This record gives sequence, structure tokens and C-alpha cells, in this order.
Amino acid sequence: KPRAYGEPHRPRFHFTPPAQWMNDPNGMFYLNGEYHLSYQYYPDSTVWGPMHWGHAVSKDLVRWEHLPIALYPDSLGYIFSGSAVVDHDNTSGLAAGDTPVVVAAFTHHDPVGEQAGANDFQKQSLAFSPDGGRTWTKYAGNPVLANETGIRDFRDPKLIWHEPTGKWIMALAVYDRVQFYASPDLKQWTYLSEFGIPGDTRLWECPDLFPLLDPETGETRWVLLVSIQQDAPNGGTATSYFIGDFDGTRFLADPDRQQWLDWGTDNYAFVTWDNAPVSPDRRIGIGWMSNWQYAQQVPTEAWRSAMTVPRVLSLRREGEGYFLASAPIGALESLRAEETRLGRRVIIGEQEIQGSFSPDRCELLLQTDLERTTASLFGITLTNPGGDRLIIGLDRENGQVWVDRRNSGPKGFSDAFFVGPHSAPLDFGEATMDLRLLLDVASLELFAGEGKLNFTEVFFPSSPFQTLTVWAQDGEWVLSDGRVYSLGGIWEE
Ligand code: FRU
Repeated sequence: KPRAYGEPHRPRFHFTPPAQWMNDPNGMFYLNGEYHLSYQYYPDSTVWGPMHWGHAVSKDLVRWEHLPIALYPDSLGYIFSGSAVVDHDNTSGLAAGDTPVVVAAFTHHDPVGEQAGANDFQKQSLAFSPDGGRTWTKYAGNPVLANETGIRDFRDPKLIWHEPTGKWIMALAVYDRVQFYASPDLKQWTYLSEFGIPGDTRLWECPDLFPLLDPETGETRWVLLVSIQQDAPNGGTATSYFIGDFDGTRFLADPDRQQWLDWGTDNYAFVTWDNAPVSPDRRIGIGWMSNWQYAQQVPTEAWRSAMTVPRVLSLRREGEGYFLASAPIGALESLRAEETRLGRRVIIGEQEIQGSFSPDRCELLLQTDLERTTASLFGITLTNPGGDRLIIGLDRENGQVWVDRRNSGPKGFSDAFFVGPHSAPLDFGEATMDLRLLLDVASLELFAGEGKLNFTEVFFPSSPFQTLTVWAQDGEWVLSDGRVYSLGGIWEE
């Protein structure tokens, strides 16, 4: 349980560790009515350090219960990022009793080897849980995959059962590419192939590989998520993806290149749940709501960083290709409390929106009537009595959305944090444009353009934002409908 909601910047409906440092989501699976979420965790400080897997469970992906730390560092090193799978057929032979065994793969990172200049200080290891994820034992034969590549960055194993060929696949981030390995039992691994962008040497991390059904054609496509450690569209680190085919050996990307899962600065290491009870045209995942450029400097005291809201990914066709549409998981709507109806409304100049919600944590649903809207730029501004302001601009003329957090709170903790505005392309469409905005004390998540646009950013105002203003420049912003919900918290008060 978080120490108190009253802590400055503690979100109310986003997952945060009770205290101390958190980064990537890890080892996510669903079993026996529970979604498990582990995460990179350092229980002794609010900055990165010897990594553990923190652990929590949820029945609905909204309300969470903290569990004891799942994995501690050991003689082989720190416990870096990885994944988990439910081994339904006990291919690993690690099951005991009737509950299917859950097997986690993670990177053992040996800091001593790293210091000494070795190039094989990252290796893949296993841990397993015979009781549905409550308790974890490290596999005695660790590591299961040593590093014979000569490449230092060799980490973040993502496991998936490949049904058509009846074997396990591991996707691994190896410096500037992903390597694929196969195994019959999760213990013995054989190299298959690798995928990268020739000439592109940015560091790749936290891959994920999964099939998604295209509901229109009935075809199965494969999605490869990769987090990129530098030069993201708005600076620093971000999650990207490729859509293509995977035949059990090789990943072949569609010609329409690498796309960004989220254009904001704060959605990194986004990965998905194994075994989730969803139809084959959907996949549920979560990201770390921060950026390595400033993650260790942001001004929270008891803990550092939150996860995004869990999101549902699905395929959408666009021209010859596809994009991944993201939406907050449906269960989030169970947090909606009072509703403020804006109805049809014409915005000229500035208009404060008031109602039974608090502007610093609410959900806005705005439907723009594009035929009647004459303003070329319109948007939303949050302010507090301390003079901090956060601005979201919808620039129809240039087909862009931007977020300006340059004056969103006290400066000084990081220069990189206060550059901007940050922007993304947005196809406004012809008749109506739907916008959904989640605000939670220190973060915003924007969804538009049928889920193609995701924009996630954090901010740290000197006191909670108290006013929410909508505005239009050089014309009218016509809403055909609008609603604001106050949202409840996810922890018991
Ligand atoms: C990504 C990452 C991973 C690594 C982990 C260490 O944020 O750098 O590649 O396993 O964090 O905490």
C-alpha cells in the first residue's frame, strides 16, 4: 500500500511501488483469476541499484495488491528485466501438483564481470513458481543461456509459446538488434535468427513478440515491440514496434518500417501479459511511465515512478499497412464516479470547465465537430495557484498535437525534462475527432485518432492543478459532445 495519497505527486489510479525505485514492468502473466505484475525494483533507494523483481497482483488490472519481493539478486548477479509464461503442458518438468507451473526468464547481470571489462556479464536464467506465482524458486541450472556473441548488451528475455511449431521462443535484446532462440523445455536454447535495422546502432531493450489477429482479414500478424534507448521522437527513451511475420524461425517486418507506440516522453519498456483471457485480436500490456533522461532525478521523495495505465493493443489497417491501436483497458471505467456533462458547446477564447471533479485527476472525453470548428489551434490548459501550467495543443492546421510542460512545475532537477513542446502527428479526420485524456496528479495520457495516437507525459507541479481551461485560437472550437469523470483511487484509503 502506498504510504499515503497525500504524498506530493503520488498518483491515485496508476501503479506505483509502495516506496523506493521502480523501472521496467517484468514477468507479467495471468493465472487463476489474477494478473501478475513484477517490476525492476531497488528496495534500498529511490535511484537505480542492485535490481530485484518487485511484485503485485490484480484481479481487474486496475486495483492492485502488493506482494513480497519475488526475486532477489544472488551470486550470479542482479535480476534484470524479463518475462514469465504459464507452462500449461509442463514442458519444463518443473510443475509440482495440479497448478500449472509458471516459468520466468530474466537476465542475470553480473556487476563484477561488467567492472572487470568482461563481455559476457549478462546471461539468461530461470525462476519458477509451483503455486501460481506466489512463491518463486530460481532454477538450479542457471544460467540457461550464456552469452557467446561477444556483444555486451544481451538481455531482457521475452518468452512465448509458438503454437504452429510447438516450441518456446525467446526474443532477446542484443545491442542494436533482437535475437530469437528456440527451446522445447525452456531450459535448452538454440539460436534461430536475428532482426535489426541495417546501419541503425541505437541500443534496443525489452523486446516483446506476439501474434495479433486482423479481424478484417482473419490473418495472423506478428508484432515485435522494442524499446529504444536513445533519440526517441521527443527525446530520450521510448517504445517502438514493427508489424510483420514470424514463422517460428525468422521475423520479417512489413516494409512500412518502425513505428512509435507512444509519442510522449514517458512510456518505456512497454511489454505484454502472457496467458491473458482476451480474444486473439487483442493483447494487454503496460509501460514504465518515465524516461531514462531524468527518471532518477524527478522530484518524488518516497518512491520513484509509476506505470502507465494498462492498455489494450489491436491491429488497424491503414493503406497497405497496419498500425497498433492502443486504448486504456475497459476495467478502468469502473473508477468513474461523478459525471460532468459538457454536452454540445462552442468554445471561443478561453473557458474554464467546472464540475464535480478535481482537475488534477479526472478523465475527459471530448468529441470535436470538425465541420463546424473554425479554430486552427485549440487545446486544454491546467493551472494551479503557484502559476504552474501544463498545455495541450491541438494544431489542426499542421496536423499535430503537442504538450508543453516547460512551465509545469519547479525546475532545476533536470534540464532535459523542460525542453519542448513535445509533439506528434495527428490525423484529425473529417467529421469528428475523439479525444480521451487521463489526468492523474503527475501524468497525462492522451488517446486520439482511433488509438493511433498515444501521448504519455509526466509532470511535477508545485501543488495540484486546480483549474482546467479549454481554449480556441482564431475561431471556434465546436464540441459535439463532452464529458468529464472524476476517478476513484485504486488503493484502499
Ligand atoms: C530498460 C533496462 C533493461 C534492463 C533493466 C535494468 O529500462 O535498461 O534493458 O534489463 O532496465 O534495470
